[in-house]
Amino acid sequence: DPGVVLPQEEEYESFVSSLPSNPKLQLLRYQGKWLLQSWVPGIIAIQRGGFAPRRGGGDIVLASLPKCGTTWLKALAFATMARRAHPPAGDEQHPLLRLNPHDCVPSMEKLFAAGLGSKIMDALPSPRLMATHVHHSLLPASITDNPHCKIIYICRDPKDMIVSLWHFVRRRLPEIPFLELFESACEGRCLSSSIWDHILGYWNASKTTVLFLRYEELLHDPADSVRKLARFVGQPFSPEEEEAGDVEDIVRLCSFEQMKNLEVNRAAGLSPVLQQNAYTNGSFFRKGGTGDWANHMTPEMAERLDAIVEEKLRGSGLSF
Ligand code: A3P
Repeated sequence: DPGVVLPQEEEYESFVSSLPSNPKLQLLRYQGKWLLQSWVPGIIAIQRGGFAPRRGGGDIVLASLPKCGTTWLKALAFATMARRAHPPAGDEQHPLLRLNPHDCVPSMEKLFAAGLGSKIMDALPSPRLMATHVHHSLLPASITDNPHCKIIYICRDPKDMIVSLWHFVRRRLPEIPFLELFESACEGRCLSSSIWDHILGYWNASKTTVLFLRYEELLHDPADSVRKLARFVGQPFSPEEEEAGDVEDIVRLCSFEQMKNLEVNRAAGLSPVLQQNAYTNGSFFRKGGTGDWANHMTPEMAERLDAIVEEKLRGSGLSF
């Protein structure tokens, strides 16, 4: 119920246990959306006013559904925005060579769930760079109605996203059948409610404060997306930077092959911020392409999902 009153701290546990749940997929239904239960405390904290926009410096929020290119977008945005302090080539100490992108760009709901929201966010340089998987309609007005806060959204062909999600979820639930995840997605019960609902929320806002990107576009012409991103965050590449090949260096630094093969992403270790999920750094780098859906879906399944998505997006001007 979107009109629900947010619980006080002491009522939180009983409030959460009263929410409709899907224990197998660890989902809770909150304000009309199916959400990973681990996100809910963070979302409530953010909605309660935990997120304080930075005056003057600005905030950049990277938004996505899981498995749509979040890790890549985090790397590209971080490399672009930090390029003066950390040149994308020739810096052996570049943070992206030593850290998983999720440790360079914090995920808001995880930070706020851990009670670290303001502590870590206050320490970030301006403009602050952060990320969320939360639906646009669940974000507070301090993000969505704030001219100093910009959102960059990335989406992906839902068929490839579901395949990627299945491989990811199998790390925790090895026995989960692909068909089960596929059916939930078709019924609009995937992570973050329905896929189309999440995409449309950001798409409809993209006429104003959201830069809308697609994973497939990034694959096709990553340099073009990096230039768009840099312009959008108010840090366009200068003719000198273009001449020096900085855009291409950023693309190379963040490329799938480069990132997947880094020691930090090959190691079985867990990144500090991701520990609670028990996913290793390497689990964010699998195949990194398009069309893997054909190895998991029959043509009929693909047609069915395409038709559902097409119908849901009809009239929006957006298609896959
Ligand atoms: P696949 O499972 O299809 O390979 P997210 O970061 O949102 O969790 O999305 C993960 C998907 O993005 C995975 O897709 C992963 O391989 C891919 N990915 C991660 N880093 C990438 C990069 N640098 N370039 C291209 N794809 C990348």
